[in-house]
Amino acid sequence: MNVPVWVNGELYDPAQASVSVFDHGLMVGDGVFETVKVVAGHSFALTRHLDRLKLSAQRMDLPEPDVEAIADGVRRCLAEAPGWPLGRIRITYTSGPGPLGSDRGDQGTTSVVIVGEQKPFPLTADVTVVPWPRNERGALSGVKSTSYGDNAKALAYAKARGGGEAIFGNLAGDLCEGTGSNIFIVRDGRLLTPTLASGCLAGVTRALVLEWCGGDEADVPLRALYEAEEAFLTSTTRDVQPIRLVDGQVLPAAPGPITAKAMEVFAERAALDADPR
Ligand SMILES: Cc1ncc(COP(=O)(O)O)c(C=O)c1O
Repeated sequence: MNVPVWVNGELYDPAQASVSVFDHGLMVGDGVFETVKVVAGHSFALTRHLDRLKLSAQRMDLPEPDVEAIADGVRRCLAEAPGWPLGRIRITYTSGPGPLGSDRGDQGTTSVVIVGEQKPFPLTADVTVVPWPRNERGALSGVKSTSYGDNAKALAYAKARGGGEAIFGNLAGDLCEGTGSNIFIVRDGRLLTPTLASGCLAGVTRALVLEWCGGDEADVPLRALYEAEEAFLTSTTRDVQPIRLVDGQVLPAAPGPITAKAMEVFAERAALDADPR
């Protein structure tokens, strides 16, 4: 079944849905995006994701996206989707068609909503640390921009080495995040995740884990990952996923007791409220 795609307020058959080849999202990665989880036909934490879309756009000096219209697009696409146990919504917002260089155009922005099925992630993750740092001082640090070439390259690097996710350190040599996930480690019995100053994205799942399950924000050297008592990834589509292996080195437990508790509490709280504010 072809679930329609929403482009700038209209629904289209996916085969007919299109944006301009001059769109700056395509030309220079001049846009922002969100991935939202769908559980049994309902979006999860949509308000937080739309808030972050606005913030990412603001950080890129893009016009404010019309998140009410986008939320309507989400509803209309989901209404046509089959009852997948798990799905994902991809929201893309760009500066719209523009000239061939980096100057922005003035023909209006582009907004797209696509929904699709999501296969569950494996029960545990094997991760590969990549040799390229996140730039925590860059203009797009912490922005969910469509300039994800760094992530695409890093994930391919990890997969070529048997990993399921790539992990970045930052310029300071500290632990940062994955290509599509945040990271938590247990060190001396404490649950820690890198601060937003590390250059990581302010993950929606990361924030919910901190609120619901506890843990502290603290920057630690990248090598702390190899010495962790436990570690896990968080993301919209994984929730809390224990890390089994770091660069071929097995961690003591996956899940260890603190990770198992976080998984349990997260699942309980998420089931109680589909749009935690
Ligand atoms: C670079 C990066 N870090 C972290 C995350 C996790 O964020 P969230 O929990 O909001 O999905 C993502 C999400 O895709 C991401 O792209």
